[in-house]
Amino acid sequence: MIICRTKEDLKRQMAAYRKVGASIGFVPTMGYLHEGHASLMRKSKEQNEITVLSIFVNPLQFGPNEDLDRYPKDEARDLALAESNGVDAVFLPSVAEMYPTKPLTSLMVAQITDRLCGASRPGHFDGVGLVVSKLFHLVAPDRAYFGMKDAQQVAVIQQMVSDLDMPVEIVPCPIVREPDGLALSSRNVYLSAEQRSQAVVLSQALKHASDWYQEPGMNAERLQAKVKLHISKASDAVIDYVELLHYPNLDALSQTKPLTDDSQPLLLALAVKFGATRLIDNCLLERT
Ligand code: PAJ
Repeated sequence: MIICRTKEDLKRQMAAYRKVGASIGFVPTMGYLHEGHASLMRKSKEQNEITVLSIFVNPLQFGPNEDLDRYPKDEARDLALAESNGVDAVFLPSVAEMYPTKPLTSLMVAQITDRLCGASRPGHFDGVGLVVSKLFHLVAPDRAYFGMKDAQQVAVIQQMVSDLDMPVEIVPCPIVREPDGLALSSRNVYLSAEQRSQAVVLSQALKHASDWYQEPGMNAERLQAKVKLHISKASDAVIDYVELLHYPNLDALSQTKPLTDDSQPLLLALAVKFGATRLIDNCLLERT
């Protein structure tokens, strides 16, 4: 496995792959890798000759009171996990390498970022858009792999790629969960044992919601209230948002009309804090 720490190294390596006509799959991450990240690497390996992984904790997507300074890191373990999942090259730049000067260009995807994490974390998706766009230019992948764990991020990136005619196919991948249902996240290590056991209410609430969604006459207002009620059974849970929206445009839907009247795909997304740790999860609702 090749490790590139500079843009120059990466560009040289990518040119060599391109010269032989290899198709390139790309998995952007912030490291502290887990099975969710590994599932993206394996999907890329299945669909491409070459898989490139990036590990970069992007300061631009963190707010002033967020966890940038304590974001978990373990480079040796990350590299071992990447290698065992068949990654060919890892791009591991420093902040100075990625941003030698303060970027004056902004990349703002409107509307889709008005709600959910876009509303709770102002500027977050501008930072994501800028770094992903830079990485796409450096790697120039044929396909890029993103987890539906961050469903809004997938929608934002798809819109950016379409608006800017970026020559890359975005491949959304399913959420990987712990056996009890908790969605894997690098941030799960922050949870105390008590918070960790309470956090199971999130995936439970989404599972119940898939059933409540089938009930005749169910509407958005009631569904959201039922989900909030279930989550509030965990004494340490502080709800940031629970929202039912159209997907992927994230438009609001009527709060009171029966959901059976709606034919567009619906995303039920939530963000909940346990102490200082903010967890997100979501599901797409389907008629059974
Ligand atoms: P990070 O949080 O490290 O996530 C990297 C990728 O792994 C994202 O596409 C995310 O959705 C996916 N992922 C995380 N947990 C997952 C899970 N349990 N199941 C499936 N996929 C999962 O998302 C970012 O980094 C950054 O915003 C980034 C895109 C790298 C830009 O900085």
